[in-house]
Parts: sequence; C-alpha cells; structure tokens
Amino acid sequence: MAKQNVLVIMMMMMVVVMLPLTQSFKLKAGNWGASFDGENNKETVTNLQFYFHDTLSGRNPSAVRVAQPEDKNKSLLTQFGTIMMADDPLTETSDPKSEMVGRAQGLYGSSCQQEIGLLMAMSYSFTDGPYNRSSFSLIGKNAAMNPIREMPVVGGTGLFRMARGYAIAKTHWFDPTTGDAIVGYNVTLIH
Ligand SMILES: *[C@@H]1O[C@H](CO)[C@@H](O)[C@H](O)[C@H]1NC(C)=O
Ligand SMILES: *[C@@H]1O[C@H](CO)[C@@H](O)[C@H](O)[C@H]1NC(C)=O
Ligand SMILES: *[C@@H]1O[C@H](CO)[C@@H](O)[C@H](O)[C@H]1NC(C)=O
Repeated sequence: MAKQNVLVIMMMMMVVVMLPLTQSFKLKAGNWGASFDGENNKETVTNLQFYFHDTLSGRNPSAVRVAQPEDKNKSLLTQFGTIMMADDPLTETSDPKSEMVGRAQGLYGSSCQQEIGLLMAMSYSFTDGPYNRSSFSLIGKNAAMNPIREMPVVGGTGLFRMARGYAIAKTHWFDPTTGDAIVGYNVTLIH
C-alpha cells in the first residue's frame, strides 16, 4: 500500500511539473508540428519541421522536367529556363521511410542567369495529426546551392487559412550526378 501511495504522489507531481510545459500547446503532431498562442493571443503560431524528398532519378521520379530552353548551351551551368513539376513526399525525419506527414506539389524553375537559383511555387499539404487537410503556399527564390536559405509563405488553407510566415530550408543530402535531394524544412506560420 505504502509503495502504491508513493507512486500515486510521484505521478501527481509529474503531472503538476509537466502541466505548464504542455499547456501552451494548442495543437501537436508527433515531433514535427506544434501550434501555440501568438503574442497578442489572437493569432496562432505554428512551427513545422519536416524533410522534403525530391527525386529526379530512377523509374519513379517525384520531379519531372516539363520545359527547357531551346538553346541549352547558354544555360548549361545555371539551367536557366528549365521548369520542373514536383510531387514530393514530406516525412517526419530525414529517413525516406519515416512517417509521411504530407506532400509538396507544384513547380520550381531555374530563374537565375548568374547562379543556380530556383523560383519555387509550391503547395505543401499535410496528412498527419491535427494538420491533416491543411496546407500552405510557398513562393520565392531558392538559392539551392546555399546550405541554408529562406523562402516566404504567402497563404494557406484549413487551419493555416490566412497564414503568413517563412520557411528555412537546409540541404540534408544532395547527389550532384542525379540532382536527387533531401531538404530539411523549418517553417514558422502565423495564422
Ligand atoms: C551546343 O554545343 C554543342 C557542342 O559544343 C554544339 O555541337 C551544338 O551545335 C550547340 N548547340 C547550339 C544550339 O548552339
Ligand atoms: C486525414 O483525412 C482524411 C480525409 O478526411 C482521412 O481519410 C484520413 O484518415 C486522415 N488521416 C489521418 C492521419 O488522420
Ligand atoms: C527549427 O527552428 C527551431 C526554432 O528556431 C529550432 O529550435 C529547431 O532546432 C529547428 N529545427 C531544425 C530541424 O532545424
């Protein structure tokens, strides 16, 4: 009996200690997503961390070339003018076999003549936890050769309706011969 009482007291203490930490979360999805009250309590801040798998090689590429310039010689290094359509899985960790949390679908095209740079115009829609069926739209320059880059989030649907924010993308793995890449995303949304 005494042992049981000690256990009960310890469990109550744990609940009391843990409450202030969990209370501030409005929503939580695995280890990849959390929403909490913004500064004025009228808005919600959501932080999403996931990995983007862009596969150009193999029998089932997730990104395909849909347009390219007539004279490819002029843009050999920068691929200027090439446009890709992608439907890329988003996962919780960098392991492609880890839990899928959504998909990034849309276009990216080489928009820079002096450097390797992409214009991204993509919809990131989620399928996991409370964020299931919500999406955000990202449009902006992706200086893909920089180890870390920032891109603007310009809107959203579902829970992310009226969202604004930014995505920090960090290349986790890149194969220069195929162009295949795994990119870590850290997204902050206000909605
Ligand atoms: C591109 O370069 C190759 C090799 O230098 C050449 O044979 C070809 O004619 C060039 N193509 C155009 C469209 O200029
Ligand atoms: C997400 O929503 C779809 C459509 O309503 C549903 O079929 C699916 O089971 C949901 N997935 C999760 C992980 O809740
Ligand atoms: C994402 O950003 C948050 C806040 O700056 C940071 O704590 C976290 O470590 C970052 N996660 C990744 C995967 O970079």
